[in-house]
Amino acid sequence: MMTAAENVGTPVPVSSPSEVQVAQPAAAAVVEVIALRKVFRSGASEIVVLNGLNLRVSAGERVAIVGPSGAGKSTLLHILAALDTPTSGTVYCQGRDLGALSDAELAAFRNRQVGFVWQRHHLLADFTAEENVAMPLLLRGTARAEALAAARSWLREVGLQERRQHRAGQLSGGEQQRVAIARALVAHPALLLADEPTGDLDAHNAEAIAQLLEHLHHTHRLTTILATHNPLLARRSHRILRLERGVLVPGTAAEEELG
Ligand SMILES: Nc1ncnc2c1ncn2[C@@H]1O[C@H](COP(=O)(O)OP(=O)(O)OP(=O)(O)O)[C@@H](O)[C@H]1O
Ligand SMILES: [Mg+2]
Repeated sequence: MMTAAENVGTPVPVSSPSEVQVAQPAAAAVVEVIALRKVFRSGASEIVVLNGLNLRVSAGERVAIVGPSGAGKSTLLHILAALDTPTSGTVYCQGRDLGALSDAELAAFRNRQVGFVWQRHHLLADFTAEENVAMPLLLRGTARAEALAAARSWLREVGLQERRQHRAGQLSGGEQQRVAIARALVAHPALLLADEPTGDLDAHNAEAIAQLLEHLHHTHRLTTILATHNPLLARRSHRILRLERGVLVPGTAAEEELG
């Protein structure tokens, strides 16, 4: 049986013995996770959620993480986004060891390197769609006119140019999730993370969001890691990994694996 580490590694090209071995650089890893452990402590008890997890995701890949509720999918995504810290182990994003970054460097990492789409959109209800999308650029000091122009361009990409002046609170759930996707991508992050992005939507809107994420992945050459219980979303990935007993093993979009 293959170990989880072997399975999630990048396939090594096989060549015949007579061939001259030429070093082939593997596709650049956007994410490399080594021996990741996360233990939550509450009082005297411990919950070991991630237990020596390894993961390598190459540029341009779209990876789905599946597994039952409580398996640790959100915990893993939060650590990849530097929103939480591992108990032990190493996380590299584009070759940088997140554990070695200062607080200021981590803030810059979150603002520039990762885009995050949550199950609930977390938009600012009283701000317009355009302002919500522009927020990551405004936070880093981009001039307002430039940030709003970029936001309009992304709202067009997600099919919401007509709604750009609506306040986020006036939009439907599916529209709000489109705004959240535009906001996650406006700063051109190296990595898009999505935690149950269709979890709060009806089947029709969930399918539309799944299609949109796939379309954006291709047109913008994204690297995407998403956690989902939705088979339609999982099937659209290049790889499905199941989080089981704290490690990642090869998974499928079968209902019983999606939790
Ligand atoms: N801050 C925390 N403190 C203590 N325990 C936590 C904390 N966050 C998560 N846990 C526990 O870690 C485990 C994994 O939770 P997590 O939210 O990562 O699961 P999940 O796979 O995302 O589940 P779901 O599919 O329901 O979203 C759960 O048992 C949860 O109760
Ligand atoms: Mg979760």
